[in-house]
Amino acid sequence: MARPRKLYIAMVGLPAMGKSTVGAKIKENLEKDDIKVGIFNNGDVRRRMIPGNTSNPDFYNPANIHAAGLRERIAAVNFAEAKAYLSTEGDIAILDATNVSRKRRETLRAHLPNHPILFIECINDDPELLALSIARKTRLPEFSTLSEAEARKSFVTRIGYYRHIYEPPDEVHDLVRLDTLNNRILFERISAGLPYYGRIRDLLMSDWIKNLFLVRHAESEYNVRDMVGGNSNLTDKGRKQAWALSRHFIGTPLPYIFTSSLTRTLEMAEPLLETRKGQTTHHAFPEFDEIDVGECDGMSYAEIERTRPDLFAARTRNKYNFVYPGGEGYATMAGRVYRGVKKALYLSGNSEHIMIIGHQAVNRMILSDFLFRRAEDVPYIFIPQDKYFHIVSTQTKKLFELRKF
Ligand code: F6P
Repeated sequence: MARPRKLYIAMVGLPAMGKSTVGAKIKENLEKDDIKVGIFNNGDVRRRMIPGNTSNPDFYNPANIHAAGLRERIAAVNFAEAKAYLSTEGDIAILDATNVSRKRRETLRAHLPNHPILFIECINDDPELLALSIARKTRLPEFSTLSEAEARKSFVTRIGYYRHIYEPPDEVHDLVRLDTLNNRILFERISAGLPYYGRIRDLLMSDWIKNLFLVRHAESEYNVRDMVGGNSNLTDKGRKQAWALSRHFIGTPLPYIFTSSLTRTLEMAEPLLETRKGQTTHHAFPEFDEIDVGECDGMSYAEIERTRPDLFAARTRNKYNFVYPGGEGYATMAGRVYRGVKKALYLSGNSEHIMIIGHQAVNRMILSDFLFRRAEDVPYIFIPQDKYFHIVSTQTKKLFELRKF
């Protein structure tokens, strides 16, 4: 069969909007089918051409004529390299740069007239995620000479310059606008027969979970007494289990570990973090906190049955939709738990392995997304404390395995 025509993909978006993750996702997936994809990143060319420090935000100030000229030259080198790649072995060349001004996109199109260009605009308006993504960027080597606060300020100023010149790419023809947090296509205008688009679209809207280890905290003080709510510690047995978890994962890189903000998941993560100093980023998300049991906080199940028989019976009748007075239910906590998962996946980008340490109800909600359980059955999914779920969910592989640690 004849190979399809070749394609340029031009990313569009402010820094820290997830453009490089989208580019990497396309490359890694299409290459599995022998489609040759090259990523042409303006930042890489900049670091090659100007070995000095370009983390100074003034380099991105549109009023700085000298720097603007240099940036034009960097872009031109990048275009030329992408073009050379497609005229030899390459099938798809991804131009990974901000490309936020109309003028820059016109230059791009003028340099690359020989194949169609798909523009992918990446949008993420979530202020909290933006702040977390910026924090991640400031750990890059180009900011190593600055303190964390200085690096942050520098990066925020850089984004401000790009925001100032941002013009949505409405003038281009082949355009897809993507909400990178929710993998949702917000706008699409595509010519019939645009090469590879069917596959790319499927990738854009699907999760890309290479290896997620979903763990429940080990035995807590409240678990032993069959009590709900609270913020108890792990028991001695629980702490030993936490060390067993850490030992089990020796040799597996875990660049990101997410926990709830509650003590029992933090203690569960402690041995992992202690043995991986500097190699793991830890985020404690309140989105992963256990179901809020409201007025029942600190009670045991037996006590609830005895003192609040009405509640106990109502919960037994319809556990999924039951909401604890003053607290939450499975149905009402779903939104925040899913948001936690989206945040975790977004921040961990294209990491090979990530871990979430959650709670019984929280982990049931996360699992229900992968197991396609009926809502009424979700509150009964078995969530052991000495085993974890290994989950893979990509375009080509679905894996779900319960493993002992
Ligand atoms: O018992 C441990 C626990 O995590 C409690 O904190 C929480 O209320 C409960 O599990 C959730 O499970 P269920 O919905 O079955 O009561």
